[in-house]
Amino acid sequence: MRQIVIPRHGPPEVLLQREAPDPLPAPGEVRIAVRAAGVNFADVMARLGIYPDAPPPPLVVGYEVAGIIDALGQGVATHHLGQRVVAFTRFGGYASMAVTRADFAFTAPACLSDIEAAAIPVNYLTALVALDKLGNLGPGETVLVHGAGGGVGIAALQLARLRRATVIGTASAAKHEALRALGIDHAIDPRDGGMAAAIRRLTAGRGVDVILDPVGGASLAEGYSLLAPLGRLVAYGASSAVRGERRSWWRILRTLAAMPRFRPLALMNDNRGVLGLNLGRLWDEVPRLTPAMHGLLDDVAAGRLKPVIDRSFPLDRAADAHRLLQARGNLGKVVLSVEPP
Ligand SMILES: NC(=O)c1ccc[n+]([C@@H]2O[C@H](COP(=O)([O-])OP(=O)(O)OC[C@H]3O[C@@H](n4cnc5c(N)ncnc54)[C@H](OP(=O)(O)O)[C@@H]3O)[C@@H](O)[C@H]2O)c1
Repeated sequence: MRQIVIPRHGPPEVLLQREAPDPLPAPGEVRIAVRAAGVNFADVMARLGIYPDAPPPPLVVGYEVAGIIDALGQGVATHHLGQRVVAFTRFGGYASMAVTRADFAFTAPACLSDIEAAAIPVNYLTALVALDKLGNLGPGETVLVHGAGGGVGIAALQLARLRRATVIGTASAAKHEALRALGIDHAIDPRDGGMAAAIRRLTAGRGVDVILDPVGGASLAEGYSLLAPLGRLVAYGASSAVRGERRSWWRILRTLAAMPRFRPLALMNDNRGVLGLNLGRLWDEVPRLTPAMHGLLDDVAAGRLKPVIDRSFPLDRAADAHRLLQARGNLGKVVLSVEPP
């Protein structure tokens, strides 16, 4: 099989295509002939060497694929050969073949292309857990989505609208028009310096009910100050630790130093909540998340949700996909496409 490996931490150029033996599914696993693999910001952080959950190099990243099951591990009776699936992979998705636990593979909605299907698992499940299970977003509430033009961001925008919430989003200015067409109520450029004032103005000084924050660092303290009474801040990333295509220790330390410490007494007196999410550490909770994943796929099949694809790159151009994410250039999901042999 072909795979894209990170042989050492560094800029996008380190990504290397190589041949590797075809993997065999262990008991309880399926093997997937990959047609498309989702690219996530975590892959960029793993390449830079600032993603604590990633194994050391040489490493093949990739948390999600779409493709066809072409081998079944011992004891797998829930899936069949030739089944078209979308699946979570615990690394290893940037490849022409991937093995994963059978219960991480779901029938792909017929209405989606392989590229669209590969955009579903991480973005939509992250957004759903953040909005529903942690944020408990209700109709009529206001949610602030940071990175609203990205993969998770657009998934959150779509889900929040289905829940009849008002959505304020931050995104680079070039994305605002497209976000309005997707239904965002208000778009703010996070780099124009006036975000907090704009949000107070938009909410008549009340603040927002839920914040989805993958930026981390100083953004969390600012977000906390923008919560309405009973507001919930969901922290799920640290994209502010990344700048440029190389690792910057200065940037990382600055982000870490700016992370606020939340005190229980202050939380009580403020009537606010702070919650954290790391989907990559929920693998053992699959039985609890499977119904949520089926619900998402039902919404896709019914036309209520549709992933927005920025563009796809052939597998051997994974470096260009990473460059696009790091240049903040994507509107929606970036996917790698894999030609059948
Ligand atoms: N904890 C979890 O379980 C989990 C799961 C999935 C994703 N995440 C996090 O959610 C965030 C979004 O992930 P994604 O995969 O959907 O990526 P993405 O949003 O599709 O791509 C990155 C986007 O983030 C924005 N951004 C903000 N600060 C940035 C910076 N310093 N460098 C580069 N881009 C920056 C850019 O948009 P603008 O310029 O428009 O702001 C860029 O287009 C990431 O922080 C990721 O780590 C967390």
